[in-house]
Amino acid sequence: MSDAVRLDGKVAVITGAGRGQGAAEARLFAASGARVVLGDVREEEGRALAAELGDAARFVRHDVTDADGWRAVVGTAVDAFGRLDILVNNAALWRTAPVEEETEENFARLLRVNLIGPFLGIQAAVPELRRAGGGSIVNISSTAGLRGIPGHSAYGASKFGLRGLTKSAALDLAADRIRVNSVHPGMIDTPMIAEVLGAGPAGRQAPRVPLRRVGQPEEVAELVRFLASDASAYITGAEFAVDGGLTTG
Ligand SMILES: NC(=O)c1ccc[n+]([C@@H]2O[C@H](COP(=O)([O-])OP(=O)(O)OC[C@H]3O[C@@H](n4cnc5c(N)ncnc54)[C@H](O)[C@@H]3O)[C@@H](O)[C@H]2O)c1
Repeated sequence: MSDAVRLDGKVAVITGAGRGQGAAEARLFAASGARVVLGDVREEEGRALAAELGDAARFVRHDVTDADGWRAVVGTAVDAFGRLDILVNNAALWRTAPVEEETEENFARLLRVNLIGPFLGIQAAVPELRRAGGGSIVNISSTAGLRGIPGHSAYGASKFGLRGLTKSAALDLAADRIRVNSVHPGMIDTPMIAEVLGAGPAGRQAPRVPLRRVGQPEEVAELVRFLASDASAYITGAEFAVDGGLTTG
């Protein structure tokens, strides 16, 4: 037993790691002893973060909708670090529109990036996770994957879908000791929702949130690290809100 959650010796793939929560997870994982492969379509940010993390990180320019690209990402983990233990399906797009104004094209795009992307990632990662003797997959859903939110038909469908994928995959993979869980952030202070939050501390107080503030990406990363680690060895198929109490009432 140690008093801190550690990831020593483990190798992780994190998608959408160029900024926001994915970048916070990459930093926390590396500081906890893991080596990380960072995927993102944002090449500049991804390369800068990999350089910051040094020998513990590699960056791969990767669009999660690209199945061949997934093989390259998993291949990088194995070639550079010898194994794969953890997959964090974090990359996503957020768009809102009233349901009757939503376009088929946008709806399909969000499903491709936010749901089919993680599905392709699970398929690509499982053989290596199995070879490692087991592993942990953490799917970043949303509070929009726990309850309906106006304007969120496409995003909500993708995030409810990811929650369902999590539970089914957890059952399919349990015999291989591969755990699959979903994380449901509320309002988190990242570029994704910067416009909604507005500028300055006033925008970050969030009166509708029981804890009266938005969350920080590092606070989501703490939960993701726990689920990625052996400290959560008996947890699979479960869903975790990190939302300041938003979905409690
Ligand atoms: N910020 C919030 O309030 C909030 C709330 C609930 C859930 N989430 C979820 O948390 C996760 C992280 O979001 P964030 O807040 O850090 O957002 P963000 O926009 O800051 O970061 C998302 C990252 O994903 C990358 N990305 C987008 N499409 C991609 C693709 N096709 N392939 C590869 N990378 C791609 C982006 O380039 C970006 O770097 C997402 O799954 C998001 O849906 C965020």
